[in-house]
Amino acid sequence: MPSLRTLTILSLLAVRDTFALLDSQNNTFNSTFRLTAQQIATANLSADTVQNLETAIQFERSNNAGYLIQDDPFYILGDEYDLDNLPPQGTILKVEEHTNLSLYTLPNSLSMSRFLYVTETFNGTSVPASAYVLWPYQPRSFKNITKCSGNSSDDQQVYPVVAFAHGTSGQTQACAPSGLRNLWDQWNEPFPIALQGKTMMSPVVAPDYAGLGVPNGISQYFMLPAQANDLYHALAAAQSQWPSLLSKEFVVAGQSQGGGVAWSAAQRQHNRPVHGYLGTLAASPFTDVLAAIAADNEAQNNGRVAGIAQGLNTVLPDFSLSDWLTPVGVARWNLIHDIKGCGVASGQLSAAEGGALQILKTGWNESWSANWYRSAVMNGGKDFAGPMLIIQGTEDPNANEPVVTKSVNETCELFPEAQLQYIRYHNVTHTPVMMAAHHIWMDWIHDRFAGLEVPKGCVQQTLSPPRGINGAQFRGWMSQTWFVEYDVYGI
Ligand SMILES: *[C@@H]1O[C@H](CO)[C@@H](O)[C@H](O)[C@H]1NC(C)=O
Ligand SMILES: *[C@@H]1O[C@H](CO)[C@@H](O)[C@H](O)[C@H]1NC(C)=O
Ligand SMILES: *[C@@H]1O[C@H](CO)[C@@H](O)[C@H](O)[C@H]1NC(C)=O
Ligand SMILES: *[C@@H]1O[C@H](CO)[C@@H](O)[C@H](O)[C@H]1NC(C)=O
Ligand SMILES: *[C@@H]1O[C@H](CO)[C@@H](O)[C@H](O)[C@H]1NC(C)=O
Ligand SMILES: *[C@@H]1O[C@H](CO)[C@@H](O)[C@H](O)[C@H]1NC(C)=O
Ligand SMILES: *[C@@H]1O[C@H](CO)[C@@H](O)[C@H](O)[C@H]1NC(C)=O
Ligand SMILES: *[C@@H]1O[C@H](CO)[C@@H](O)[C@H](O)[C@H]1NC(C)=O
Ligand SMILES: *[C@@H]1O[C@H](CO)[C@@H](O)[C@H](O)[C@H]1NC(C)=O
Ligand SMILES: *[C@@H]1O[C@H](CO)[C@@H](O)[C@H](O)[C@H]1NC(C)=O
Repeated sequence: MPSLRTLTILSLLAVRDTFALLDSQNNTFNSTFRLTAQQIATANLSADTVQNLETAIQFERSNNAGYLIQDDPFYILGDEYDLDNLPPQGTILKVEEHTNLSLYTLPNSLSMSRFLYVTETFNGTSVPASAYVLWPYQPRSFKNITKCSGNSSDDQQVYPVVAFAHGTSGQTQACAPSGLRNLWDQWNEPFPIALQGKTMMSPVVAPDYAGLGVPNGISQYFMLPAQANDLYHALAAAQSQWPSLLSKEFVVAGQSQGGGVAWSAAQRQHNRPVHGYLGTLAASPFTDVLAAIAADNEAQNNGRVAGIAQGLNTVLPDFSLSDWLTPVGVARWNLIHDIKGCGVASGQLSAAEGGALQILKTGWNESWSANWYRSAVMNGGKDFAGPMLIIQGTEDPNANEPVVTKSVNETCELFPEAQLQYIRYHNVTHTPVMMAAHHIWMDWIHDRFAGLEVPKGCVQQTLSPPRGINGAQFRGWMSQTWFVEYDVYGI
């Protein structure tokens, strides 16, 4: 009998710190993608990188729920909409009430909707974007949770909403979590939030960050306030579409890039309050993004910095990709856009022939644009709307713990009355912190919906497992030895 199979990509498999040949798992990957000779020559790809990139693209394509996202008519906005004259931000544009889940790998009992809505770029421009709602079979009820419609004349239960900010999936149109079989973040956040009846069973409203999904041009990757805009406008759009099902009250949650987005959202909430806000969970959050980049992991460094650079010219008109990237770096990022690769594919190009090629220009990090980026996107040292729970692994090689701790400390020193709880998990890495801290963050979200008060002030603690860490599974960034795979056999 074939073993259980499901498909998935692991978000941070994208940028590995080793450069090894990949073998195609061709019984599950189903793509015939091949690079052209010209693409290979222009991006100066070695034979090994060609094999790895083709395998990575095949893998990514096999994770789409049926259509490639760029071919899925759902993401195309109708002709009736004029992009220069969109309705207000947060307006719903298109709704797929019941997504056909036969090609997704969702847990049983969940259902899904997708929608297009109007969001807001870093600079405030309106653009269309996509999002999903993951619906539990039955909501858990909370006394303090009220409908958006304000209609209390029926006793239908209302779903308490979690606005969820996804981790990095990639930078092109092809990388929208709503069109991927496992919604990208799968068992780390959206599935348990929608499933765990004892604590929550909340629907998850999750934007695909603008630029992923709807063909808008460029993704403003890691411009965290822009992604926080996506989170708020997607939430408002969903609440307007399903006013008698979704609660007015909401909790913000995210991990990794999404943790940075969540923290940024808490700062946005302070500056632009939205009614119904109950608090923020920021897990392994990016705070000082450029400082968090590991000096000893060139591929990671290349991938994130180049990913930021490819969108920065939509924010800073005087910036161009070649300000930070070498010619071969520019050629490789143009190739990613050309072939609509996502994080796994760009990770192969960022590995830069095992470091033989230079992708980032010397001195990029001391340019005016890098300085601008640092201060514009920084989390921490700024006022925010609490309560906020931050969870962080001490061995995180990605959103490094010292950088996060520094941001927490700066915030606590400036705002000693802020409701901030910071929990570090000894020996835990980037994404596994979601598993290590499962009951803590699940209970925390539950308590917000239950209306529990959080005392003022900063609380910091560090936790370790009672048995020690020996034998626990913490391999690499993702520390995961499995994929969620699609069952092609129907068993
Ligand atoms: C996978 O590819 C290898 C090498 O081309 C081939 O020998 C094998 O039969 C393929 N497996 C499946 C399940 O297609
Ligand atoms: C692979 O794609 C082909 C052609 O689209 C299709 O007939 C086949 O069923 C697919 N195989 C798998 C395992 O999905
Ligand atoms: C192309 O890549 C090879 C190493 O794979 C390197 O020696 C060569 O300098 C590169 N050429 C350019 C133009 O970057
Ligand atoms: C859902 O998608 C599957 C696979 O593409 C298709 O066979 C089925 O007819 C679809 N169901 C509905 C209700 O459209
Ligand atoms: C309130 O809900 C009831 C039952 O769902 C419905 O019949 C009624 O029209 C609603 N009233 C308003 C003002 O939305
Ligand atoms: C976006 O805002 C920044 C300041 O925050 C400004 O420097 C930049 O020129 C603006 N970009 C556009 C496209 O308006
Ligand atoms: C920029 O990078 C170089 C080389 O890694 C390093 O020596 C320098 O301190 C960095 N500058 C800043 C401002 O981080
Ligand atoms: C952060 O604050 C804690 C508690 O005040 C302190 O023990 C720690 O040394 C500080 N760490 C950094 C990096 O500032
Ligand atoms: C676990 O963390 C402690 C304290 O940070 C450290 O001393 C120890 O070496 C770590 N153990 C492993 C196996 O990483
Ligand atoms: C509901 O919220 C109010 C105000 O936040 C609080 O005083 C009250 O205790 C809450 N009730 C319950 C049942 O949680």
